[in-house]
Amino acid sequence: MGVGKTTVGKLVARKLGRQFIDTDKLIEQRAGLSIPEIFKQHGEWFFRAYETSICEEFSKPQNLVIATGGGALVHNNNLERITGEGNIVLRLGASVQAVIDRLAGAENRPLFNNPANPREAVLKLFEKRRIAYQQLRTRIDTTDRTPEDVADEVIRLFEREVARNSYRLLVKSPVSHYSILVNAGVMNELPQILDDYGLKAHTAVVTNETLRPLYGEQLANLLDAVLITIPDGEIYKSLATVEQLYHDFINARLDRSSLVVALGGGVLGDTVGYAAATYLRGVRLVQVPTSLLAMVDSSVGGKVGVDLPEGKNLVGAFKQPELVAIDTHVLESLPDVEIRCGLAEAIKHALLADPTLLECIEAIRTGDAAVLRRAIKVKVDVVERDPYESGERAHLNLGHTFAHAIEKVSDYQWRHGEAVGVGLVAAAYLSAELGRLGGQDVEKIAAIVDGVGLPTRINGFSPDSLWNAMSTDKKWKEGRTNFVVLDGIGSPTIVEDVTRDQVFRVLEQLQA
Ligand SMILES: NC(=O)c1ccc[n+]([C@@H]2O[C@H](COP(=O)([O-])OP(=O)(O)OC[C@H]3O[C@@H](n4cnc5c(N)ncnc54)[C@H](O)[C@@H]3O)[C@@H](O)[C@H]2O)c1
Repeated sequence: MGVGKTTVGKLVARKLGRQFIDTDKLIEQRAGLSIPEIFKQHGEWFFRAYETSICEEFSKPQNLVIATGGGALVHNNNLERITGEGNIVLRLGASVQAVIDRLAGAENRPLFNNPANPREAVLKLFEKRRIAYQQLRTRIDTTDRTPEDVADEVIRLFEREVARNSYRLLVKSPVSHYSILVNAGVMNELPQILDDYGLKAHTAVVTNETLRPLYGEQLANLLDAVLITIPDGEIYKSLATVEQLYHDFINARLDRSSLVVALGGGVLGDTVGYAAATYLRGVRLVQVPTSLLAMVDSSVGGKVGVDLPEGKNLVGAFKQPELVAIDTHVLESLPDVEIRCGLAEAIKHALLADPTLLECIEAIRTGDAAVLRRAIKVKVDVVERDPYESGERAHLNLGHTFAHAIEKVSDYQWRHGEAVGVGLVAAAYLSAELGRLGGQDVEKIAAIVDGVGLPTRINGFSPDSLWNAMSTDKKWKEGRTNFVVLDGIGSPTIVEDVTRDQVFRVLEQLQA
């Protein structure tokens, strides 16, 4: 309220040659009443119902410039509606004093009707809307600026956002909406992106010893940030590293308004993410994943955490990042074995929900951002539907019950991604064993796993040892566990009644 949406909106529309719509005016026209009359005669809910139907009407891009009422996106999931694919939502803000000055004497504002204490009234309203407003990343401060100046900035920001739309995935989590930007060279754009998304702050870039000389120093310079380095390796995904990070954060004078940028693979993203989730009860986090696995899998969905001596990922939290920036250039330095391991998860995503992605999965190896985005989108869709892992997210375990057993029996000599490769083939055999998947599809899956250079056989590990490893898995209950299988490629389902004999037949087929 009073930040200049209508004034600036009209100017922007004129400059862009688009039609302008003011939702408050539209409601007045449609209701045949002024807003104060609507509030008086029918109450606020009536006004909000109109707003909701208008947000629904404009949920698909129609080349308009729309100024909403200040409360429009706060109620009835309207933000969800209006942030449909292609629409760009920008937030204008202003200092409390500027808002008070602009609203002085206003008569058509039922929620700001000459209050006795204007400052208190503005702050109260803002506090009520704060959580919804925070979801709107792109914001412009209009305090002490002319409408012309703000309109020009709106247009510049709009054009940058239009360009980003071609390589953006939007994630709608229960606590925030954030972008995953996937493009070659996106790391160099980070200063501008952080500025546009209201994330410019005192920043620490955290990376590991391997990535520091490759990208860490450069990124810290670019962001004018403190650079913090942790050792490389899963054994450092520990509470000891997190404690060291807390000390480093204090030395770097990070406070609640600061930003932590995690630059690295899944190990680093999980560890730094957990430190960011807990330091001062949470500071803002940007993930810049550098391994293929982290791009496709671990940086999406908000799960962060560390290992304990008793097992992997036993301590953790859900911490949604403010932004995920994926620069495909960094894949050039990623060792081929790590590429293959990431491809295993990408194949898994194709098998879960995007069968034709299988045909072009190899393109990810050479950094094809469009194909990579498709692989990431599968995980985005799943975590949006099941943000706290209470149901469908279990599908992401396709092939993983077998993979965990193989990792264990090999005494962790097999890498996770390699074990997932065979695990996917095993899941395909099991699906066929249960009469859910045709032989041709099984062959196809094995050929794709083989084609990217991942193993499809488990020579040397007996079915007995794998069975034992599986049945001591923490997810195993009363002699049985859930398996994710395929009812055809692209249709995962969970089965609970798999017998020992069926699993044995699968394991025997996987011997060379
Ligand atoms: N949070 C989640 O939802 C989730 C999901 C899946 C996996 N994980 C976790 O992810 C971790 C595995 O991640 P990972 O496979 O990325 O392993 P990793 O982080 O150990 O990275 C593998 C190696 O590649 C190096 N590296 C990364 N990017 C590089 C680059 N661009 N150039 C050169 N070297 C590079 C790393 O320094 C490391 O040595 C595991 O701890 C696993 O538990 C988490």
